[in-house]
Amino acid sequence: PGDTLMKHYLQFKDFRAEEYAYLLERTRIIKTRFKNYEKYQPLVDRTLAMIFEKASTRTRVSFEAGMYQMGGSVVHLTTGDSQLGRAEPIEDSARVISRMVDLVMIRTYEQAKLEAFAAHSRVPVINGLTNEYHPCQILADIFTFIEHRGSIQGKVVAWVGDGNNMANTWLQAADILGFTLHVSTPGGYEIDPAVAGVQNPGCLKLFKSPAAACAGAHLVTTDVWTSMGYEAENEARRAAFADWCVDVQMMQLAQPDALFMHCLPAHRGEEVAAEVIDGPQSVVWDEAENRMHVQKALMEYLLIGRVG
Ligand code: CP
Ligand code: NVA
Repeated sequence: PGDTLMKHYLQFKDFRAEEYAYLLERTRIIKTRFKNYEKYQPLVDRTLAMIFEKASTRTRVSFEAGMYQMGGSVVHLTTGDSQLGRAEPIEDSARVISRMVDLVMIRTYEQAKLEAFAAHSRVPVINGLTNEYHPCQILADIFTFIEHRGSIQGKVVAWVGDGNNMANTWLQAADILGFTLHVSTPGGYEIDPAVAGVQNPGCLKLFKSPAAACAGAHLVTTDVWTSMGYEAENEARRAAFADWCVDVQMMQLAQPDALFMHCLPAHRGEEVAAEVIDGPQSVVWDEAENRMHVQKALMEYLLIGRVG
């Protein structure tokens, strides 16, 4: 695509509500085709480069399988096996890689690094997780909510735990898609609304107690106590987060038909009780699978625009 038409997906607020409506409907169509074993290969001869500076299971498998299903191919790079780990400037890496592939996905540390890559890339760039945001995950989570419960507009989502990349991205989604985010974090691990950059401050409600945040929620969600890159804080976090475990009592305060989500990987007995993540309200396996379906719609949108 020409530069003027080129879009990146670096954070959730890069797209408008109307673009999400399109992408979520495309996801539904693409997922249905997959379930019906219908071949759909609009990306023949297109290549996706995936750059991982942090570990991954879901992100790698979902992008890689999704790209092959659509007829394309992938190149997988990590810090350790590329010149990225030997201090080649990110701008130079972007200039080189983007001359040879059609699309790039990056998982890295600072959002600024992802933005520097995008600024020097000839092709669209997708955020596969940074310290600040995880937009592909929240896109999958919203699709999963809609599949199970219909529109998320006007609903209440409870975030229990760290004010991290997932929390920031949920806040951007609440702002754009018109739902309310209840957030309860331990002191010192608060969400910073300036990172999300919200337009409607009313979409965020803060709670000291995690149980209070869950009251009346249509969806309860959490994440690891220690995100990738923060391992040195592990001991301090284990102490600070001890009361931020989503348990059966918290789920009972939510709506009777509330869903539970977790981006995974999960730690049973830490951020979530086994009875909750393995219980009837949990949709975590659909949530993981839907990463692939939403990202297929996203790659189609970035590479060939609107179809149908
Ligand atoms: N949820 C998620 O992004 O998982 P991975 O770290 O396994 O990619
Ligand atoms: N917040 C977690 C999400 C992992 C998918 C992390 O950044 O490690």
